[in-house]
Amino acid sequence: MFKTARLRRGIVASPGCRLPGAPRDDAATRGKSDPIAKAYRMTRPEPTYTPPAGYHFLTPFYDRGVAWTTRERRWREQLVRHMALTGADILLDVGAGTGNLAVLVDRQGSGARYLGVDPDGAALAIARAKTYESPSKTEFRTGHFTAESVRDWPVPNKVALCLVLHQVGLEEKARLLRECWKCLPDGGELYVADYGEQTGLMRLLFRLTIQLLDGRTDTQPNADGLVPVLVREAGFRNVREIERFRTITGSISIIAAHKAGAPRPV
Ligand SMILES: C[S@@+](CC[C@H](N)C(=O)[O-])C[C@H]1O[C@@H](n2cnc3c(N)ncnc32)[C@H](O)[C@@H]1O
Repeated sequence: MFKTARLRRGIVASPGCRLPGAPRDDAATRGKSDPIAKAYRMTRPEPTYTPPAGYHFLTPFYDRGVAWTTRERRWREQLVRHMALTGADILLDVGAGTGNLAVLVDRQGSGARYLGVDPDGAALAIARAKTYESPSKTEFRTGHFTAESVRDWPVPNKVALCLVLHQVGLEEKARLLRECWKCLPDGGELYVADYGEQTGLMRLLFRLTIQLLDGRTDTQPNADGLVPVLVREAGFRNVREIERFRTITGSISIIAAHKAGAPRPV
């Protein structure tokens, strides 16, 4: 409760914060020629992540699971409607998973360019197979998302984060949102579709399903309504929940925000 109150007042992870278990910044950012830093980078393990359905062996069943436990068709179609994509848009899907957003964007036929990034190679193999014959320009990349990791792609003007934030720790939620902010141009738009604030029956269902599968630590900040706070903290403006969907696993919110011209608060 105390932690939540602090977060609501905006006392959240600072931009320079470390991921749990990650190296201190001074070692990681030493000059390129520093042999200690070089050796350190070479031995630094890849950050860990939670696969789409919580466990790697469940990845092939993710699509079926998400379809009937989240009323996926309803919220995802609405998300695409709210994004109002046109042929001029470049959409970056962070944590693209098995490519369900890519499929829908493709089916919608706006001509928008879709770019997806995800650390899970097995999920992206499914995504690639599903969009193999896609008429639009759909591209996926395996890796941990940072603004730098997609620098060689066209600059996106819209970024989507679907069902990712409830699966990562508080510092990683904040980091992902800051990286989304960094890779967008002024006026760029962010869309988050994820479990949001849970109240009443939704809180109970969320506890009995998602929190049992994904654990409480990563999911509770979402249930406590912190996602919009973190979006604002990352520097986004005009943060608003545009729709909320009641499902058998808790309520899912679509949150929209945009990047204004002003510099991000440090
Ligand atoms: C529940 S799945 C959602 C997949 C997809 N966005 C969707 O809407 O179906 C969460 C995805 O986030 C990815 N993920 C987990 N940790 C991540 C991180 N730190 N950065 C980016 N993606 C991450 C996982 O690999 C997984 O594919």
